[in-house]
Amino acid sequence: MTALEQPTLVVPLSITLRQALRTDIPKLEWYGQYIHYRNLFRRAYREQQMGRRLILVADCNGFPVGHIFIQFIEPDDGSRRRAYLYSFRVMEMFRGQGIGTRLIEEAEAVIRQRGYPWITISVAKDNPDAKRLYERLGYRVFGEDEGRWRYVDHRGNLRSVHEPCWLLQKQIHLR
Ligand SMILES: CC(C)(COP(=O)(O)OP(=O)(O)OC[C@H]1O[C@@H](n2cnc3c(N)ncnc32)[C@H](O)[C@@H]1OP(=O)(O)O)[C@@H](O)C(=O)NCCC(=O)NCCS
Repeated sequence: MTALEQPTLVVPLSITLRQALRTDIPKLEWYGQYIHYRNLFRRAYREQQMGRRLILVADCNGFPVGHIFIQFIEPDDGSRRRAYLYSFRVMEMFRGQGIGTRLIEEAEAVIRQRGYPWITISVAKDNPDAKRLYERLGYRVFGEDEGRWRYVDHRGNLRSVHEPCWLLQKQIHLR
């Protein structure tokens, strides 16, 4: 049988964008791929309950195939109120179909609704594809960062990350 004769099915799938529920949190690990971020996912959910963060998921048949996290920042040093977007990813087999773009647009709608005038994102310098996506959506580089941070993984080990990145921002026009 040649490749051309292989049976092919076209399966319609609907994707719903919504706020994460408690039952989504273990699923954000994507069957082990992101198990090391377990504590970060749990903390983000706790902070979502307090109104300080929000996790948006792209739900396909009850499974979060994509997500983006929003952190609402109320600085006490006089700098401006802003929302920070991070932990943005779409499962590999679902990429390139507009889910990521819709997740960012939906995050922007939530941020506008909550009255935050600026959004920031950091993107690794070795990730030009994601940077291009952000620039297409109106984000502009305003600085850079060494991208050093630490977290405790699911086994309780402290892990250090060093990922030099660009810092991008976008102004949200509040109505
Ligand atoms: C970045 C990401 C969330 C975009 O999601 P998506 O559903 O593929 O996005 P869309 O379909 O709306 O847009 C596709 C765009 O994303 C870009 N992109 C970035 N990383 C990509 C990747 N690993 N695979 C496919 N496309 C990617 C594509 O180049 C495309 O832009 P282009 O048309 O200018 O080439 C997704 O590709 C991903 O999870 N990448 C790996 C994790 C990552 O890099 N996250 C960003 C961290 S700052």
